Amino acid sequence: MTRGRFITLEGMDGAGKTTHLDWLRARLEARGMPLIVTREPGGTPLGEALRQLLLDSHDTRNPETEALLMFAARREHLAQVITPALEAGQWVLCDRFTDATYAYQAGGSGMDWHRVAELERWVQGPLQPDLTLYFDVDPEIGQARTRQVRAPDRFEREQQAFYERVRAAYLRRASEHPHRIKVIDAARPIPEIQITLEKIILTI
Ligand code: TYD
Repeated sequence: MTRGRFITLEGMDGAGKTTHLDWLRARLEARGMPLIVTREPGGTPLGEALRQLLLDSHDTRNPETEALLMFAARREHLAQVITPALEAGQWVLCDRFTDATYAYQAGGSGMDWHRVAELERWVQGPLQPDLTLYFDVDPEIGQARTRQVRAPDRFEREQQAFYERVRAAYLRRASEHPHRIKVIDAARPIPEIQITLEKIILTI
C-alpha cells in the first residue's frame, strides 16, 4: 500500500485559505484520490475542545502555554487521525499545522523559535508534511480593506505589527524549507492562483 500524501495549508486571515482548500479538495477528489480533510487546532474531540478554549477566550495567555496546548492537540491528531490515514494510503489535507505555531506563537507572540523546534521534534519525530501551501498576503492590504479613511488607532497598529511578525515568520519558514513550502501570492485573482495550485499538485 503506498503511503498517502500529507498536505498542509497556511496563511493569515483574508488570504483565501478556506476557498483554496475547498477547491483543492474538489480537484483531488475528481482525480480519485482517497482524501480526508482536517484542521488544527482541532481534528479530534480533544483537539476541537482545545480549539474552542484557545479561540473563544480573549484572555491574554503566555505564548508557551498556547504552544504546548497546540502541540498536545497535534500529538493526538497525529496519533488518532493523520498517521493512520497516511498509512492506509489516504491523502490528508490539513488546514494549518506546525508552521502556524512558528508563525503565531514564535513570530507573532515572541516565543523562542528553538523551543518550538524542540517541541516539533518531540511531537512529530521525522514526520513533516510532503507539501505546504502558504498563502501570502501583505497584512496592510487586508487591514486597509476594512479600515475607513481615518488613521489606525493604537490597537489597530499593534494588530498590524503582530500580523507583520506572523508573516515574516512564515516567510522565514519558507526560506528554511524551500522544497516543502510553496509561497503563493494570494493577492492575485483566484483563477490565476488555481492554475498555480494545479501545477503544484501535479508534481507531488
Ligand atoms: P483559522 O484556521 O484561520 O480558522 P478560522 O478563521 O476558520 O476560525 O484560525 C485558527 C487560529 O489559530 C488562527 O488565528 C491561528 C491560530 N493558530 C495558532 O496560533 N497556532 C497554531 O499552531 C495553530 C495551528 C493555529
